[in-house]
Amino acid sequence: MKRFLAAMAVGALTAACAVPVMAEDDNVLVMATNAEFPPYEYREGDEIVGIDAEVAALIADKLGMELQIEDMAFDSVLAAVQTGKADIAMAGITVTEDRQKTVNFTDPYTTATQMIIVAEDSEIASPDDLTGKTVGVQLGTTGDIYADDIEDATVERYSKGFEAVQALIQGKIDAVVIDGEPAKVFVEQNEGIKLLDEAFTEEEYAIAIAKDNEELLEQVNTALNELKEEGEFQKVVDKYITSDDAEAETEAVTEEAPAEAGSEAQTEAAAEETEAVTE
Ligand code: ARG
Repeated sequence: MKRFLAAMAVGALTAACAVPVMAEDDNVLVMATNAEFPPYEYREGDEIVGIDAEVAALIADKLGMELQIEDMAFDSVLAAVQTGKADIAMAGITVTEDRQKTVNFTDPYTTATQMIIVAEDSEIASPDDLTGKTVGVQLGTTGDIYADDIEDATVERYSKGFEAVQALIQGKIDAVVIDGEPAKVFVEQNEGIKLLDEAFTEEEYAIAIAKDNEELLEQVNTALNELKEEGEFQKVVDKYITSDDAEAETEAVTEEAPAEAGSEAQTEAAAEETEAVTE
């Protein structure tokens, strides 16, 4: 509640002084996305939820605008901002040199990876083992681009990442190359598949905006950086991603609290105990 009020207060303040760039669009910030990508954007009933959806709503709030989400194929989201159909594209979009030629990107908001999903009993144990295999990807993603470089591999392209995962479960393909966080969600939700430890690539996500809309780029960057500084960005991430590390950290903090006035050795002992319990 407190958080909500604080956000409202900040929102109201910013709204009072911001000059909305897309004024001709009735103060609506249109976001192009592909809601097939948990935990960044996915459907919950009729609603599109996820980290990108919530962060975009907070950004719109800071700009004194209302967010409108347009769901489309992933390989259309950048074209949507280029043609003015959307003001921003936010879809776990990796910044690449090629894409930078067609759109502007905000400051990055997440570091990400491409990971490999295989059948539980697969012989594939590292990216090198993908040579000559059949690899499934979501069309137009960086997974698609990188899979193309795997020696002698056959690349099967699907319109949704989950369709690639289904093909893997059905034994039609040998592996799926997809972003790490959705990969974890898909592996958690389905039997018989596992994630390889070794990441295939490292990348960064950012929001895409039309080249000729520098003013909006600046406004979105300001809003995004404020959200990071205020901790609001991290709150959204924590709502959707509970990493093992984060869990361990929370436990350690709880355990350590009573020992705070005590010696460092005590604190360390408490931390060690926590680790033992976690294991
Ligand atoms: N990060 C990858 C890319 O930029 C995949 C993003 C897919 N996003 C989505 N909403 N389906 O190509």
